[in-house]
Amino acid sequence: MTFGLMILIWISNAIFRFLSDFLISKFEKISFIGENGTIDGQGAIWWNMWRQRTLPFTRPNLIEFMNSRSIIISNVIFQNSPFWNIHPVYCSNVVIRYVTILAPADSPNTDGIDPDSSSNVCIEDSYISTGDDLVAVKSGWDEYGIAYGHPSSGITIRRVTGSSPFSGIAVGSETSGGVENVLAEHINLYNVGVGIHVKTNIGRGGFIRNITVSDVYMENARKGIKIAGDVGDHPDDKFNPNALPVVNGITIKDVWGTKVQQSGLIQGLKNSPFTGICLSNINLQGVAGPTSPPLKCSDVSGSAYQVKPWPCSELSSSQQTGACSNHF
Ligand SMILES: *[C@@H]1O[C@H](CO)[C@@H](O)[C@H](O)[C@H]1NC(C)=O
Ligand SMILES: *[C@@H]1O[C@H](CO)[C@@H](O)[C@H](O)[C@H]1NC(C)=O
Repeated sequence: MTFGLMILIWISNAIFRFLSDFLISKFEKISFIGENGTIDGQGAIWWNMWRQRTLPFTRPNLIEFMNSRSIIISNVIFQNSPFWNIHPVYCSNVVIRYVTILAPADSPNTDGIDPDSSSNVCIEDSYISTGDDLVAVKSGWDEYGIAYGHPSSGITIRRVTGSSPFSGIAVGSETSGGVENVLAEHINLYNVGVGIHVKTNIGRGGFIRNITVSDVYMENARKGIKIAGDVGDHPDDKFNPNALPVVNGITIKDVWGTKVQQSGLIQGLKNSPFTGICLSNINLQGVAGPTSPPLKCSDVSGSAYQVKPWPCSELSSSQQTGACSNHF
């Protein structure tokens, strides 16, 4: 049941310290608005317990919305989350804007924003610098996500800037309920592990389709682009090895990279090849030379148009098609 209530949480420009999860469940019309005040999760205590393996349970998110609708979060600084920072799960109509999310680069699992089994989510005009993925769109983990079957859909991410030793813009790796219709654009990444990362695994099942990432600038990246089916671990050993994800329709276009160590890789699954992968107008410059080493591919099909360095033959064989036009 959803309460037909409207709540307004006003974060003034002071610092608020939390040691546990700020959880809001089953609400409608939530405004979480600040004057650029700070919510500090004091995560170091948790990170240390996790590092010493003395934690018998998972760490809390800094702020989590569950089964809620019509949410706006704006003008708040989130820092030092014990785990993920902002986690809308089973939510719809969510706007997150003008937020700043900070955690040290070596802090474990401090993802910025993870829309999870949620629809119509807009993340915009924000700065995120953390120890894990800046934004990662998810929808449940292996057999549990498959059983619940609740996709993430209609996710817009725009004008986001940040740094991370892991991924800049990510989909996955927990995508068992399916992820579709994602648009990420005008993204600036500095000092990043993998700039654009679509990740899933055997046992996840679900689908990833109609994902577009465009207008990305990245500087100093370990890998420019990675789309792979062997990423992330399993919650337990009960996952079904025949539950293969279906990946179809990923467009990456208008990307400029400088000091990119490796262009990256696009690696489908042998029994579930990734289809409709389209790269267009991409220029990834290397650290030493004018171009970064070419993309490696396996078990994928799609097309490439004006990509530097020129990508693998699996994509470049259909170069004549020009701009990306995918069908789902
Ligand atoms: C909060 O920060 C935004 C930019 O991030 C700025 O435009 C706005 O003026 C700030 N508001 C206050 C009340 O300081
Ligand atoms: C693909 O996703 C975009 C949002 O990024 C949406 O506007 C479009 O309608 C979707 N296409 C299909 C065929 O669902």
